[in-house]
Amino acid sequence: MNIILMGLPGAGKGTQASKIIKKYPIPHISTGDMFRLAIKNGTELGNEAKSYMDRGELVPDEVTVGIVKERLSQSDAKEGFLLDGFPRTVEQAEALNRIMDELDTKIDRTINVEVPEEELMNRLTGRRICEVCGTTYHLVFNPPKQEGVCDLDGGKLYQREDDNPETVANRLEVNIKQTAPLLDFYENQGVLVNVDGARDIDEVFNDIDEILQNL
Ligand code: AP5
Repeated sequence: MNIILMGLPGAGKGTQASKIIKKYPIPHISTGDMFRLAIKNGTELGNEAKSYMDRGELVPDEVTVGIVKERLSQSDAKEGFLLDGFPRTVEQAEALNRIMDELDTKIDRTINVEVPEEELMNRLTGRRICEVCGTTYHLVFNPPKQEGVCDLDGGKLYQREDDNPETVANRLEVNIKQTAPLLDFYENQGVLVNVDGARDIDEVFNDIDEILQNL
């Protein structure tokens, strides 16, 4: 099962990905998470990615494609994978197809989570994340039982650096520009499915689950 989870920043890709991998044993490959880990570890990749992420810009395709290619070549991705936040440009999608050819496999579905733009700013600026396990909350839509504390392990919740209103505005603008041609690309490949993401988290998951069960 080779799946791409698409959607604008804040559409709920990470939230849905964590539910998907609880049910389906495939690795969750998030380019955003990979870049954040590299930044935390102070690597060369992290230093390069940070300058783009802080501005809400896309990290250059050659860098992003390189880390995805390496990750998809690892043995745990042989039986399937869930890509989250990649590809984001047609160039990345074309590169992914070449990687699929090299690995003698293909993309089964591209699931596009659709949420109206006006809701995304609220979702992102209200997002909080557990510093221990990475679980995502929202101050209003998905609050923890105790303010500032993770329900699962008591970890402290923090706000992502790029979730401030100015950077979010730029992330949305940059991603909206790239989305239409990317959707056309996967529509033409016959693998695109749209899911209404402006509903309760579990309702969105039920639709995604149905798509995955029918693969
Ligand atoms: P990345 O980390 O991928 O960020 P993003 O695409 O901006 O998406 P987010 O992680 O912000 O949102 P999400 O859709 O996962 O939403 P979530 O589930 O958390 O990328 C960060 C940066 O890395 C990019 O800006 C770029 O610089 C770089 N990068 C990454 N990939 C790249 C690539 N391929 N090429 C180049 N550069 C790349 O939900 C958001 C909030 O909403 C949460 O608080 C959640 O609780 C809440 N929520 C979720 N679902 C619902 C719902 N149904 N109803 C109400 N609230 C909900």
